[in-house]
Amino acid sequence: MPEADQEGKRYQAETPQAAPGFFLKGCHQLDWGMKNRLARTFNPASGRTVMLAIDHGYFQGPTTGLERIDLSIVPLLPHCDALFCTRGILRSTIPADSQKPMVLRASGGPSILRDELSDEQIAMDMDDAVRLNAAGVGIQVFIGGEHETRSIHNMTKLVDAGLRAGMPVMGVTAVGKAMTRNAQYFRLACRMIAELGAQYVKTYYVEEGFETVTASCPVPIVMAGGKKLPELEALTMASNAVQQGAAGVDMGRNIFQSDAPKAMIAAVAAVVHQNMKPKDAFELFRSLKAKG
Ligand code: 5RP
Repeated sequence: MPEADQEGKRYQAETPQAAPGFFLKGCHQLDWGMKNRLARTFNPASGRTVMLAIDHGYFQGPTTGLERIDLSIVPLLPHCDALFCTRGILRSTIPADSQKPMVLRASGGPSILRDELSDEQIAMDMDDAVRLNAAGVGIQVFIGGEHETRSIHNMTKLVDAGLRAGMPVMGVTAVGKAMTRNAQYFRLACRMIAELGAQYVKTYYVEEGFETVTASCPVPIVMAGGKKLPELEALTMASNAVQQGAAGVDMGRNIFQSDAPKAMIAAVAAVVHQNMKPKDAFELFRSLKAKG
């Protein structure tokens, strides 16, 4: 067994990583097509994104709020910066005249009926992502999970295909039921995903030490939403994440399971792009909700 080094401590989270010539950290030396797709996904003015995640059906079927994507999600499209969805939903339900950047879920396998969700494979050819004019692809990586090595290998194969096509890969830190969600775990998972080639990372917010997760990850991080929370809590979490170095959010249930999804996505966008304080964003949510 090789001796493992101790994790470092010098994160210097207050000093942003330089990215000369491009607005996203760690992306300034990528090729033109890759940068162009990233600049469609992330708003160059704020350097951040509000991605709406609606890929849940790939393993759990018609999730609450996603029973009818044509009715619940298509009206939200003008209000997000990008959509994270499966190619099945894209082809069947998302109008092809939409100008929104589409980031496509590229892994799959086990359903919610199985205990072990880490048993995934690549579930889409890069050719198809290009054919669909995708702005990126996303894949789950199960660090510490039963199928850790395969999920890493899935991602590195996708990264190789993405580099050939100019397609950014978003590596998603999947957390198994038994895994501890703390900064130490997410530092490890996010850094591994970046070192193994993903152009950006989706991960969960943690109350303590999230700035060390973003500081030690050399590419942008977008915050995953997780389970539905009361709106003020979700806005506070999104605000904390961007103030602590995240380049935006990729949120699903906290938007589409809100009883006013359009108001909620507008409030999230205010927090992400305008640094609005969570309480003000909550007031914005309430007033937009009242207006219907
Ligand atoms: C898991 C995923 C999900 O499929 C989805 O995107 C999660 O979104 P949310 O937790 O915000 O509802 O990528 O990591």
